[in-house]
Amino acid sequence: MIKVISNTNRGGAVDTSAYSFAATEDIRRLHTSLDAYDVTPLIELKNFKGVRSILVKDEAHRFGLKAFKGLGGIWAVYRFISRELGLNNPTLEEIFQHRDRLAEMTFITTTDGNHGKGVSWAAGLFGCKAFVFMPRGTVEVRAQAIRDAGSATVTITDLCYDDCVKYTARLAAENRWHLIQDTSWAGYEDIPAQIMLGYSTLAYEALRQMNYQRPTHIFLQAGVGSMAGAITAVFAEVFKDNPPRITIVEPVEVACFYETMRIGDGLIHSATGNGQTMMAGLNCATPCDLAWKILRHFAADAAVISDDVAADAMRQLAEHGIISGESGSAGFALANAALDSSNLRRALELNEDSIIFVINTEGATDPVNYDKIQRQMLSRN
Ligand SMILES: Cc1ncc(COP(=O)(O)O)c(C=O)c1O
Repeated sequence: MIKVISNTNRGGAVDTSAYSFAATEDIRRLHTSLDAYDVTPLIELKNFKGVRSILVKDEAHRFGLKAFKGLGGIWAVYRFISRELGLNNPTLEEIFQHRDRLAEMTFITTTDGNHGKGVSWAAGLFGCKAFVFMPRGTVEVRAQAIRDAGSATVTITDLCYDDCVKYTARLAAENRWHLIQDTSWAGYEDIPAQIMLGYSTLAYEALRQMNYQRPTHIFLQAGVGSMAGAITAVFAEVFKDNPPRITIVEPVEVACFYETMRIGDGLIHSATGNGQTMMAGLNCATPCDLAWKILRHFAADAAVISDDVAADAMRQLAEHGIISGESGSAGFALANAALDSSNLRRALELNEDSIIFVINTEGATDPVNYDKIQRQMLSRN
């Protein structure tokens, strides 16, 4: 199932200059200085179901972490450490000269998987400690991937994502640990703002790969919306006079931006669904404040999709050689399913000239479920 709702709060002004190419140069300098850095592929699916093309940025290959999230985690941790050490844009070598100070720093975060991998990796790289907490229902393989990525001690709690965030914020305050959370709220904005800026590298890589040709549509999956907000800000900044048409995509049972647009009073609202979805990275019930400030003005609409729509997309992408996990497939899933429906084509203003940009935000981060979904195709054939 798919439903789409318009954003009646669209329009107005918001400053996206922090996401300009020039303003984000230091971020790219850090990312490209990392041994694990490589530009991730942009794959073009030409003449896909009657549109000119779908461009898929494949983040399954990012930093060996199988997801885009490390871009934000490493930048936020680097910037925090630089400030603590009183250094301005230091090289990694300059930071490594302060090993004793680094060993005293402890980071903490909540994650449904991929952000925690980024924080664990960053903490490990710099020789810091990290504690990562995960919501109930998390599969053990995601917890183990966080341990394997770096230095984090990982705990799966019996809390939902939102309560887990509150819990880690409290632990941070009590223990003087440093909270590296990828969502913002009143009074906690600097770190999430940096995490969002960290995602700009993905957008500028993609823009270069598409020779700065403007896509007509961008479908962005959202958990708390930090990624969608950041990517939107870059494209709004680059195509100031005519930004692409942006649609947010969420699981039907955890759809906080859909709910926010449905109520339409300009404020953020939490999801009301039952929280059951295999799209673990999108299982967040409350929008990130900073992301909504951007998406409120630029997103045309929000769509909800059910798990079977995501599963179809995972199989379709596999046929094109793209390994896409549950949350990773969601942006493409909207395109894949909407293009089969004349009503949805009309609602999303899709036609033969459309160029849709989507991000495969993760690879097979839950390999057991990934294989199960791919086998369902085989048995159906
Ligand atoms: C694979 C994947 N895609 C998309 C998202 C959504 O990002 P955000 O929470 O910034 O909306 C996440 C979040 O963890 C994720 O892990």
